[in-house]
Amino acid sequence: MKLFKKSLNLHTLNCLTKIKATDMKSYLKFRNLCTVFILGFLATSCVSNVEEQQEELINADAKVSYTNDVKPIMDARCLSCHGAGGNFPELKNYTEVSTHAVIVKEEVASGRMPRGAALTAAQVKSIVDWVNEGALDN
Ligand code: HEC
Repeated sequence: MKLFKKSLNLHTLNCLTKIKATDMKSYLKFRNLCTVFILGFLATSCVSNVEEQQEELINADAKVSYTNDVKPIMDARCLSCHGAGGNFPELKNYTEVSTHAVIVKEEVASGRMPRGAALTAAQVKSIVDWVNEGALDN
């Protein structure tokens, strides 16, 4: 009986050490997995940072659009006085606005135009930038 107890104890001890060994293995596996995850996460966050920076660069490069930015301002704020048969210069379309781009920029930047009203700072910037970028038909 005593002998049996002893061998049982030994057996349990054996089992315990085995369990510990497998525990250790799975712990190591888990740790490796964590490392892979963390590295993967860091790598992707770096990549998305680079993408963001590229986007910013593209935006910094972006030109002001005549069609999307300048024309809507002309139509809403200038045509009432510079439409067909109105004050010089007529500003109805790209050809007319680009022909007078320099004086349009001067009048808007100085705040002389639109007469009796004011554009927002962003609208003035759009027009000034568009002229500085070459008054493109874009
Ligand atoms: C309320 C009427 C009115 C509005 C709105 C108006 N203008 Fe004028 N604009 C005039 C008049 C009148 C003149 C001519 C007399 C003068 O120069 O003040 C003129 C002249 C000009 C000139 C010619 C300046 C020169 O050197 O001969 C430009 C360029 C001009 N406007 C641009 C604009 C632009 C761009 C807008 C819109 C952002 C605008 N104007 C809105 C009334 C207006």
